[in-house]
Formats: sequence, C-alpha cells, structure tokens
Amino acid sequence: MARRLQPNLGEIGDAARALRAGKLVAFPTETVYGLGGDATSDRAVAAIFAAKGRPSFNPLIVHVANISSAAQFAELSAKAQVAARAFWPGPLTLVLPRRRDCRISLLATAGLDSVAIRVPAHTIAQTLLMMAGLPLAAPSANPSGRLSPTIADHVLADLDDKVEFVIDGGPCEVGVESTVLSILEDRPRILRPGAVTAEALAEALKEPVPIEMGAEDAAAPRSPGRLLSHYAPSLPVRLNAAASEPGEALLGFGPAAPKDALNLSPTADLQEAAANLFAMLRRLDNRHYRTIAVMPIPETGLGTAINDRLRRAAAPR
Ligand code: TXA
Ligand code: MG
Repeated sequence: MARRLQPNLGEIGDAARALRAGKLVAFPTETVYGLGGDATSDRAVAAIFAAKGRPSFNPLIVHVANISSAAQFAELSAKAQVAARAFWPGPLTLVLPRRRDCRISLLATAGLDSVAIRVPAHTIAQTLLMMAGLPLAAPSANPSGRLSPTIADHVLADLDDKVEFVIDGGPCEVGVESTVLSILEDRPRILRPGAVTAEALAEALKEPVPIEMGAEDAAAPRSPGRLLSHYAPSLPVRLNAAASEPGEALLGFGPAAPKDALNLSPTADLQEAAANLFAMLRRLDNRHYRTIAVMPIPETGLGTAINDRLRRAAAPR
C-alpha cells in the first residue's frame, strides 16, 4: 500500500530518503505525475519497468533540477543550450547524446547512446530533486500503454501496491506529457508533441522544427511513446464525433457540445482541454458505455498534443 504524502518539507524529505534507499516515489510535475526512482541505480530503474509492465526497450526520461545537472549526463550542443535556456524549467524533454562518463543506468536509456532529460518546473518536483540529490528516472505513473495520471488518486488507483509514496500535489496544470525534442546530430525534431509547441521551438531555435508523426516499428521503436496504440482507456475511442450514438459516452469540446456531456472546455480553451483530457477519459471509461466518442479538437497550439494522444487512444490495439 502506498502512503499519500503532503507536499511539506518534512514529508518531501521522507520521499527523498526513500529514493536514496532505492525505493519508488510518485510525484507531481506540471505535466503529469511521474513514477520516480534513482536513475543511477539499475535496481531502482528495473523496479520502475516492472511496476509499469513497460517493455525494456522503451527508455525513461531522467529528471534533474537544472541545466548544470543535465550537463553532467548529456552533451549539450549550442543548439541544445538555446532550447534549454528558453524552456527549462518546463514541459520540455531533450533527447541528447549520452556523455561517455554518464552515471545514468544503461537500463534507463535502454542501451541507447542518447539520454532524455527534463527539468520540471513544478515546485514539488524541484524540491524533491534538490532534497534527494539524485537524477530521477520518471516515466508517467501509469501501467504501460494506459492513460497518464493527472491527480494523486489516479496513481493510487493504478499503482497502489507498487510505490512506497505518492506526493499529493493536486491536479497537474498542463495535463499532457512533455514535448520530447530530439537534438541529435544537430537536427531538432519533435518525437512527441506536448505543451511546448513546434512553433515556439522553431522561434527559439530560429529554424523549422518538424514533428515526426506516424507509428513506430513496435519491434524497434526509437521513441516508443510513439507506438500507435498508447495512452489508451479500456473502452474503444471514436474521434471527431458530432454527437454520441446509443451506448456511447460523449466527451465534448466547445460551446456546441450538449449541456449534459462532459466537456473538455466549454469555452474551447485548449489549455483547459489538455488539463482535463486524461481525467475526463478516465471518468467515462466504465462499463456503462461501450465506446467513448470525442468531439473534434482544433489542430493548433496544444491541440496538436491533445490530438496526438487521442489518435493513439483510438488506434487499433
Ligand atoms: O511529461 C512527461 O514527460 C512525464 C513526466 C513524469 O515527466 N514523463 C513521461 O515519461 O511521459 P514516459 O516514460 O511516459 O515517456 C517518455 C518518452 C517515451 O515516449 C520514450 O520513448 C521517450 O520519451 N524517450 C525516452 N528516452 C528516449 C531516447 N533516448 N530517445 C528517444 N526517445 C526517448
Ligand atoms: Mg507514459
């Protein structure tokens, strides 16, 4: 049974000690809750893979407190530094070359010669990183392939017997996972759209930043968050629905949605919709329905990340 911790210094200190002892702690970031463990410990990292039922070829994101910690583990090219200065701390993950002397577990990076690093902005995540004094491997705190958690109760529902502590920081502000930007061989490309948009990255880097869409080869994915079926509720999902059919739950968007439907954002605000996305999909994912029908979301700004998650939720399993 996991213990729910309050976000005060005493209880975050308990969590930091547990992490140093090799235990797993779920903690909030501004995107989603992460399942954290010591990224330098093969045992802790193996426990993360086991808790999630995650295939070992799918590498984890390493969380650190600041750019100088990141530089201990990865090569930061001039371009990577521009991106880091512009968006860290924040919802951006950079895939960078692993340093030769990198102490991160090879299991965490799935044997690749790159490492995914993120500096989260959330105060609780920052405090935990400082107090633990460790880089933390932390995938989203959900069973592999399922919906990411955006409140502590989601983590307790999914992973209760698999973590020591869950730090309860309330709902995550962003609600969809970080943007994953690969800057290998100096060629930036987005492997997973998120809160930091392609437009914002292109403006900071002063060059176009393509989003690599399409499914990965399941046998050898380079960024397995891009596996076609992912972020999925138990029920099938139908996209671009104008209305619900008999037996379907409707997830609305905007002022045109029926008043009795759950609505991602009645005012069509994409930020609000992203923050509500996973919690609302979870609420509709029950045996009263046979399908979840989702109204169309515009493909602009955060809408790109929302639609990316919805397409994967709707993909054949
Ligand atoms: O918002 C987030 O990013 C959350 C919070 C907890 O930080 N974390 C998260 O982690 O979503 P996870 O493990 O669920 O997703 C990590 C993504 C996966 O798609 C993985 O394949 C990709 O990052 N990734 C990790 N390391 C990589 C690498 N070296 N090269 C390419 N992709 C990588
Ligand atoms: Mg995930």
